[in-house]
Amino acid sequence: MARKKIALVGSGNIGGTLAHLIGLKELGDVVLFDIAEGTPQGKALDMAEATPIEGVDIAYAGSNDYSAIKDADVVIVTAGVPRKPGMSRDDLIGINAKVMAAVGAGIKANCPDAFVICITNPLDAMVWVLREVSGLPHAKVVGMAGVLDSARFRYFLAEEFNVSTEDVTAFVLGGHGDTMVPLTRYSTVAGIPLPDLVRMGWTTQEKLDQIVDRTRNGGAEIVGLLKTGSAFYAPAAAAVMMAEAYLKDKKRVLPCAAWVDGQYGLDGIYVGVPVILGAGGVEKVVEIELNDDEKAMFKKSVESVEGLIAASRELMPK
Ligand code: APR
Repeated sequence: MARKKIALVGSGNIGGTLAHLIGLKELGDVVLFDIAEGTPQGKALDMAEATPIEGVDIAYAGSNDYSAIKDADVVIVTAGVPRKPGMSRDDLIGINAKVMAAVGAGIKANCPDAFVICITNPLDAMVWVLREVSGLPHAKVVGMAGVLDSARFRYFLAEEFNVSTEDVTAFVLGGHGDTMVPLTRYSTVAGIPLPDLVRMGWTTQEKLDQIVDRTRNGGAEIVGLLKTGSAFYAPAAAAVMMAEAYLKDKKRVLPCAAWVDGQYGLDGIYVGVPVILGAGGVEKVVEIELNDDEKAMFKKSVESVEGLIAASRELMPK
């Protein structure tokens, strides 16, 4: 069987990290694309030169021409601009909506059968633009946010409880922004839900609330420390997990920005929900029961995403 081809549209901090992780896992040959001349070519050559040391059989290529992504099996999109301190993800919409329109056209022309994972922010709205312009089936275009947000949540919880991150599961719902909804009831340590752990005296409700708040602002915390850009190691790792679920038909249950039409009472919108990811892309949106508080938080998050999608619609080239 021929090796899979993975195209990375955007070869900046996340794009470069993606390329390296994909190589180390031997998921497929990697093509880096960017508008910056020399950047994708330089990173591709650098990583190709590491393959003899790493012992992996992966071909790397870099290009400034969309024809390079032809027939890619998976496309991961990070093209655009990241945040600087003081900016919200939503502040990026003016530039990134136009970038997504160009990327969507490139995908449509070159690899309409690909599975597309978007990372560019503001995430939920940018996935919507990519899908609209590329015309791909909704199940084949998703956004990476929930895996990252829940990983941050898991890490903070593991630190609080002094247990392995492996034994902590966490659920995050809604848009990738300040309105995201970390679901404590559905988050566990080795199957024990967080509210039970509060009752068992492992932590306090106050401490849990602080962790939820830190998770919501996890991206901004990194931007504040880095000052010149946003997080890239964890976002890349999260997208690679999603790509692997698709390529290996793993049927992983992961929170993704997916097309929700009917479930959760929603009428056609991209927003963060748990889904089953396999060879068909998003094979099922998992509808979990929400209590009144969770419903209210999710509704607020959906409204914020709807606003961003409406703004993106205005910004897209006619
Ligand atoms: N087409 C292709 N690439 C583009 C375009 C475009 N129209 N516009 C910008 N780029 C490239 C830049 O040249 C740069 O190499 O996108 C790359 C972005 O890389 P970084 O600036 O390092 O940003 P990164 O940290 O990788 O984040 C990318 O992901 O998490 C989100 O908010 C983040 O929207 C941002 C995106």
